[in-house]
Amino acid sequence: MSSREIGASNDALLQLSELDTFYGPSQVHFGMSLHVRRGEIVCLLGGNASGKSTTMKVILGLVKPRTGEIHFDGHDLRPLSTPQIVRLGIGSVPEARRIFGAMTVRENLLMGAYTRRDRAAVAEDYERVLEIFPRLRERLQQRGGVLSGGEQQMLAMARALMGRPRMICMDEPTMGLSPLFVDKVLDLIQTINAQGITVLMVEQSANLALQIADRGYVLQNGCIVVEGDARDLLLSSDIQEAYLGGQEYVI
Ligand SMILES: Nc1ncnc2c1ncn2[C@@H]1O[C@H](COP(=O)(O)OP(=O)(O)OP(=O)(O)O)[C@@H](O)[C@H]1O
Ligand SMILES: [Mg+2]
Repeated sequence: MSSREIGASNDALLQLSELDTFYGPSQVHFGMSLHVRRGEIVCLLGGNASGKSTTMKVILGLVKPRTGEIHFDGHDLRPLSTPQIVRLGIGSVPEARRIFGAMTVRENLLMGAYTRRDRAAVAEDYERVLEIFPRLRERLQQRGGVLSGGEQQMLAMARALMGRPRMICMDEPTMGLSPLFVDKVLDLIQTINAQGITVLMVEQSANLALQIADRGYVLQNGCIVVEGDARDLLLSSDIQEAYLGGQEYVI
């Protein structure tokens, strides 16, 4: 790894280095680098159209960068397909949840395990996931489309866990939720992380996300402009004013 790489880390589980990503002629990432260490909760912040969701898509192999490197646990992800990347242990909760509205909650959960052949372990994980999300257990036969927004978010998280991921990527998990559900979803992210799953989350609610994160990055126009410990980002009035659009946060 070259010393030029911003934020390069030897103990990273995920390392994105110097990415340039395009949609046709339009460039979204300009030398974008970030890393996530094993066991961390890392939060990717930034305004609309800064390239946050594209970062998630690049990790999942849905969009391929033109240049740069992506490594997960020693594997080069660039040549791999999305199913291959999922099998390496990366789960995803995409923007706007994308649950299957016409399928029941139970069917949605089982779809999360579609790449797995270990049926006994899938059955165990099904029980374990329902313990974390008791609200879903009460609604197993209900169609996904009739769940509330917060319940759909829980279903999307639970479905991602059914793939038994080592790392989970979440794109705006609290979007559109009431304050009560926002707290609940953030608690659940901490619960998932406490079970040994590394978390990379995109959030617009910067100060809420930083409360549960270990580290944060701010993306602006496709470049990382700030990187630091979550607590430092919360307490720095300069960073709060310049990037997070708020008053210094009092813990
Ligand atoms: N499939 C696509 N084709 C062309 N341009 C795209 C595509 N997807 C995203 N873009 C563009 O890339 C830029 C970055 O989009 P991206 O979705 O990564 O932003 P974001 O940071 O997630 O924004 P938001 O906070 O609004 O979700 C935007 O200008 C967007 O219009
Ligand atoms: Mg987005």
